[in-house]
Amino acid sequence: MKYPNFQLVILILIVCCLASCQHKKEAKQQVTDYEQNSINIDLVALFETAKQGKDTVITVVEDPVYHKMKKYKAVSALSILNNVERFSKIDIAKTKIVFECKDGYKPEMPLQLFLTAQPFIAYEDLDATEGAKWETIIKNGNKMDAAPFYLVYPNASPKDSRYKWPYNLIGIKLEPLSSLDNVLYPKDDQKSIVGYKLFQKYCITCHAINDIGGTMGPELNYPKSVTEYWIEDQLVKYIIDPTSFRHKVKMPKLEITKKESEEIVVYLKYMCRHKKEN
Ligand code: HEC
Repeated sequence: MKYPNFQLVILILIVCCLASCQHKKEAKQQVTDYEQNSINIDLVALFETAKQGKDTVITVVEDPVYHKMKKYKAVSALSILNNVERFSKIDIAKTKIVFECKDGYKPEMPLQLFLTAQPFIAYEDLDATEGAKWETIIKNGNKMDAAPFYLVYPNASPKDSRYKWPYNLIGIKLEPLSSLDNVLYPKDDQKSIVGYKLFQKYCITCHAINDIGGTMGPELNYPKSVTEYWIEDQLVKYIIDPTSFRHKVKMPKLEITKKESEEIVVYLKYMCRHKKEN
C-alpha cells in the first residue's frame, strides 16, 4: 500500500472531532445551567413601581465614597431580595452577587457574605443641598454623584475590601459562583493560572473576555485580542501604568508589579487561542 498509515490518520481525526464536540456540548450545558440559576433585578424599574420594603434612615459613620459621616434614605437590600420569587430556591453558598453600574463597572462578592453584612440600597442623600438629590463626589478631578442608587453597609468596615460599595448602581444579578467563570479558566495550561487569578482579581470588573465581565473598559479578547495588536513589552507596561501612555485615561493605575503584569499577559495570550465563536 502507498499510504500504510492512512486508516490510522482517519481514526485519529475522528477521535479528535468527537472530543471537540463533547467539549462544545459541555460548554453549552454550562451556559444553560448558568442561565437557569441566575436572577436579574433591574433596580431602576423596581423603584419606579413600588419600593420593595420599608424606607429607613441610616447613618454610615465612615462613608468610603464621601469620606465622612453620611445619612441616607434607604431600603434594606435583603427585603428586596426576599421579594424576588425565585430567591428562596437559590443555593446561597454557590452564588455570587454582581452589581451593575451605569458606566459598566461590575464588582461582585459572594452572596453569603453580602447577606450577613446588613446591606442597604440608598436612594436619597439626606446631606444634599436643597434641590439636589445627592452630594457631589469628586473623583480624579471629575464631579459626579451617586445616583440612582448606592449600596451601603451601616455596620461593615469600609476598610474591608471584601465588601463592595458600588454607586451609580442600576441593577443586581445573582449568578452561580464559578460556572461561567470556569469558561475563562485555563484548564489545559498551568502556566496561565496565575494570570487568570490576577485577571479575576484586578481586571474583570471593568473588562470582558469573550463577553464575560465588565463593560467599563473594552473587551480584551475578541474579535481581536489585545495581544494581537499591542507589542508585548508595551502591553505589560500599559497594564502597570496606563497614564504613561494615554492622557486622561479612565483605567486606574492598579499597583501591580511587572511580574504580575507579565503573568496577566501570559493569560491574555492563552485566551487569544480560545476566542468566543461568533
Ligand atoms: C476601573 C476600570 C478598569 C480596570 C479595573 C482595568 N481597566 Fe483596563 N481599561 C479601562 C478603560 C476605561 C480602558 C479604555 C482606555 C481608557 O480610557 O482608560 C482600558 C483599557 C485597557 C487596555 C487597552 C485596550 C486597547 O485596546 O488599547 C488594556 C490592555 C487594559 N485596559 C487591560 C487591563 C488589565 C489587564 C487590567 C487588570 C490588571 C485592567 N485593564 C483593569 C478600565 C479598567
